[in-house]
Amino acid sequence: KSLKAHFSKQFLVGSAINAQQAKRTEQDTDALIITQFNTITPENELKWERIHPKPDAYDFSLSDEYVHYGLANNMFIIGHTLVWHSQTPDWVFENAQGELLTREALLARMKEHIHTVVSRYKGKIKGWDVVNEALNEDGSLRDSKWRQIIGDDFIEKAFTYAHAADPDAKLYYNDYNLYKPEKSAGAAKLIKSLQDKGIPVHGVGLQGHYSLTHPALNELDDALTLFASLGIESMITELDVSVLPFPSEAIQGADISQDLALNKALNPYPDGLPEAQQDALTARYKEIFSVFLTHQDTLTRVTFWGVNDANSWRNNWPMRGRTDYPLLFDRNSEIKPAYRAVMTLTID
Ligand code: G3I
Repeated sequence: KSLKAHFSKQFLVGSAINAQQAKRTEQDTDALIITQFNTITPENELKWERIHPKPDAYDFSLSDEYVHYGLANNMFIIGHTLVWHSQTPDWVFENAQGELLTREALLARMKEHIHTVVSRYKGKIKGWDVVNEALNEDGSLRDSKWRQIIGDDFIEKAFTYAHAADPDAKLYYNDYNLYKPEKSAGAAKLIKSLQDKGIPVHGVGLQGHYSLTHPALNELDDALTLFASLGIESMITELDVSVLPFPSEAIQGADISQDLALNKALNPYPDGLPEAQQDALTARYKEIFSVFLTHQDTLTRVTFWGVNDANSWRNNWPMRGRTDYPLLFDRNSEIKPAYRAVMTLTID
């Protein structure tokens, strides 16, 4: 029994994998990835700062391993991500004198990057997160350097360039909090405007960084209904469910190793998840997957952001050194009750 087999008629099930996993140096997660999943996403290995650290220097050593791993295991391989405001070096937006580029120069740079990366993996990477996180929480466009320099059409240009480099690749817009009504409305408006101009956009990625309380199930349901109405695929691209308290903005980034009281408040389960919280996580996964299943006609993929609890970014965000339990496999790669719960869901 595996996730990929259980949901094979509904959607692909995948995981983000890190460099060690792509290099197959972790035996326990390697076994899980191969038995449980049929699609992978690179957690960091295809981001601009990793593969294109300097203007004339690409480094594909890790991304090549990632793609090789996916091909060797018959995975639907995702590329993440081409255009993002984060993990993109400052030089991308500057000329050799350190001045901001013109619109034309930045477009040329974007085109060259997309062409180089997408062409390299043409026919191998089947789906690309072309643009990541371009929206504010109210649904308006984020004021990134991409937008400041190029203008709002940086998004359609990115999709156009990606399509030219691999016309068979599926192209996605990916963002977090897309269950929030204002933000999902903004994403729908953006996607509609691309469609109206004939720009190829095949799907929307809802990242899925959730908690025990967010999103409300009706919000998630409404968002998936909204995106279905656009005639595109929806994907849950970065699923995890944090069980930890979310710190107020004032203490985000605090060094919890230095303050015992704060540590107890913000890292309440360092030695294991108490039964009540384990039950809550299990119930939460079950109800979230139940919503996914009601959208199986348009929801084509569910990807977890990490294989097991030990390698989740949630342990280090928004502060380092916490012990979170956001995934279906524990720190020893053993299945958790939440895994069993989603595997009991009836499927028609
Ligand atoms: O590799 C270096 C290591 O050499 C160094 O010693 C260490 C010290 O901090 O940092 C390591 O790099 C870290 C990297 O993860 C690998 O672990 C970076 O600092 C850290 O910033 C980076 O975080 C990644 C984050 O994106 C960056 O924004 C997370 O792993 C990754 O899970 C996360 O993924 C994003 C998605 O791409 C987009 N959606 C949100 C999601 C979660 O933030």
